[in-house]
Amino acid sequence: MTITIHDLAAFKAQGRRFVVLTAYDHPTARILDRAGVPVLLVGDSVGRNVLGYSNELPVTMQEMLHHVRAVARGAERAMVVADLPFMSYQASLAEGVRNAGRLIKEGGAHAVKLEGPHDELVHRLSEIGIPVMAHVGLTPQSVHGLGGYRVQGRGEAAQRVLEQARQLEKAGAFAIVLEAVPAALGAEITRALRIPTIGIGAGPDTDAQVLVLHDLLGLNEELPRFAKRYAELASVIDAAVRAFAADVERGAFPDEEHSYR
Ligand code: KIV
Repeated sequence: MTITIHDLAAFKAQGRRFVVLTAYDHPTARILDRAGVPVLLVGDSVGRNVLGYSNELPVTMQEMLHHVRAVARGAERAMVVADLPFMSYQASLAEGVRNAGRLIKEGGAHAVKLEGPHDELVHRLSEIGIPVMAHVGLTPQSVHGLGGYRVQGRGEAAQRVLEQARQLEKAGAFAIVLEAVPAALGAEITRALRIPTIGIGAGPDTDAQVLVLHDLLGLNEELPRFAKRYAELASVIDAAVRAFAADVERGAFPDEEHSYR
């Protein structure tokens, strides 16, 4: 049985914390799904972590669909949430509805995520049965407008972020990502909302935590302050590739075991 928006609501009601991880391809989706991760986020962070872009802005609908399909094919139990990429929903409500529909219909996602105070679009999508995960605080699609990847909601700005979160809940969002906000604000929004809050750089008191898988696995050289490495996969890959090359160079691979008669 796939995890649903009702399961996530129940987790919050039971005080049960959960995790969300980014996934961009089929094998990692399968591994995360089997490890019991309830929500896989095909984030537009695919642009930085997989496609070699310097930020999220160039990511297209085509690219998102390509990765969402691969992840959806690898997820048996996890809910798959797909990011609406930059300029796929900002210009008009109709375009936002159409593109959200594509991520569900052509991509196989169960829900979409969008950034910022787009209450009307969240309301419309919820009305037609497309669950929406909202995202406030540091919203990477507005990186230029924010003047860089910086903490949001300090001082007087806290009320604005709290109010945005309240409005998005009212509009029908089933969960909300809080990115790079002070821990006290993360806790306050979590108390104020009925829907689960998913923190990334929002302190320890949100209902769930999300990390970029490539940060967690040690595939990225630089980490944001809020991310933590749980493995050193870059070194593991480096060592494996060097061992293979050394075997080939000294004629040890392929050996008899790995050759056909
Ligand atoms: O695109 C993404 O991966 C995200 C998460 C970091 C929340 O939006």
